[in-house]
Amino acid sequence: MKIAVLAGDGIGPEIVAQATKVLRVLQKDGLKIEMEDAPFGGAGYDAAGDPLPAGTLKLAKEADAVLCGAVGGPKYDALPRPQRPEQGILRIRKELGLFANLRPAVMYPELVGASSLKPEVVSGLDIMIIRELTGDIYFGQPRGRNEGGDRDAYDTMRYSESEIRRIAEVGFTTARKRNRKLCSVDKENVLETSRFWRELVVDLSKKYPDVELTHMYVDNAAMQLVRNPKQFDVIVTGNMFGDILSDEASMLTGSIGMLPSASLDSSGKGLYEPSHGSAPDIAGKNLANPLATILSSAMMLRYTFNKDEWAYRVEAAVKKVLADGLRTADIYEDGARKVGTEEMGDAVVAAL
Ligand code: IPM
Ligand code: MG
Repeated sequence: MKIAVLAGDGIGPEIVAQATKVLRVLQKDGLKIEMEDAPFGGAGYDAAGDPLPAGTLKLAKEADAVLCGAVGGPKYDALPRPQRPEQGILRIRKELGLFANLRPAVMYPELVGASSLKPEVVSGLDIMIIRELTGDIYFGQPRGRNEGGDRDAYDTMRYSESEIRRIAEVGFTTARKRNRKLCSVDKENVLETSRFWRELVVDLSKKYPDVELTHMYVDNAAMQLVRNPKQFDVIVTGNMFGDILSDEASMLTGSIGMLPSASLDSSGKGLYEPSHGSAPDIAGKNLANPLATILSSAMMLRYTFNKDEWAYRVEAAVKKVLADGLRTADIYEDGARKVGTEEMGDAVVAAL
């Protein structure tokens, strides 16, 4: 199995180095993988004038899985849009057909104090947000501006039947493997795309009578996530709503530094990355939390390589270092042992 390693910018290289360290231990223990690096995001722009250089895209297409760090930084903020690091992400999602974005929000018992919500609201929280990733207003045409007079700008929210059905299918099958509760989030009271979305999800639900399907408007879902997040098991939603709700859900757990993500195509190939960004303010200081990236590699083992036991092994090692009291600055509390990025990575390796 070949893994394309795209470390990216900011803290990307430091945290990805910890995840590859973990993968190398598994490799020594018999996991058949090869890894190859390529520049991506701002680093892609620096190397080739393009956030997704042709060589990087080729490697990502040939590979069985892609491990990403994070992209972006102040240095690239003033570039014209096509050269901006975010365009690298949007293009790689589209080029690789990574339409299903899985963003779990899991509360580790040791970190309950790190959440800004009351412990009883968040303890034991375990939800999975499934966000459609290659359609919606992010990619809909036309988009643009009209100059002259009262100028305007516009984007198009659009979903096709096949796009909705395939993401809804991921929602139902994921719910089936968990607590069999699926909440489809839309804005059916206002939007035509959402009416269509809801009709198709309801239609598909006939195939999954064992899954309890509910619907929620996105504004209410945003409220319910902070009011009583444990009412949710799996949430399925469109690209734009999912972007917003997944950031909100990640913060319920106290640290976005703990949360992995997977973006999958229809055959199980995937891009794995932490849910957080490139944190340019702490880059290169050995301060970043590498656990989200390490846990992303565990998701890779599970979803692309179908190696559940290896995934559990990595996840158990992460739980062990937390139980042992090791904390990076973002999850630090009195009485814990504060460690840097490297030391956290080494501790996970030791715990394996
Ligand atoms: C995310 C990010 C991206 C998105 C940006 C960087 C384009 O916010 O992965 O959630 O909006 O999808
Ligand atoms: Mg986002």
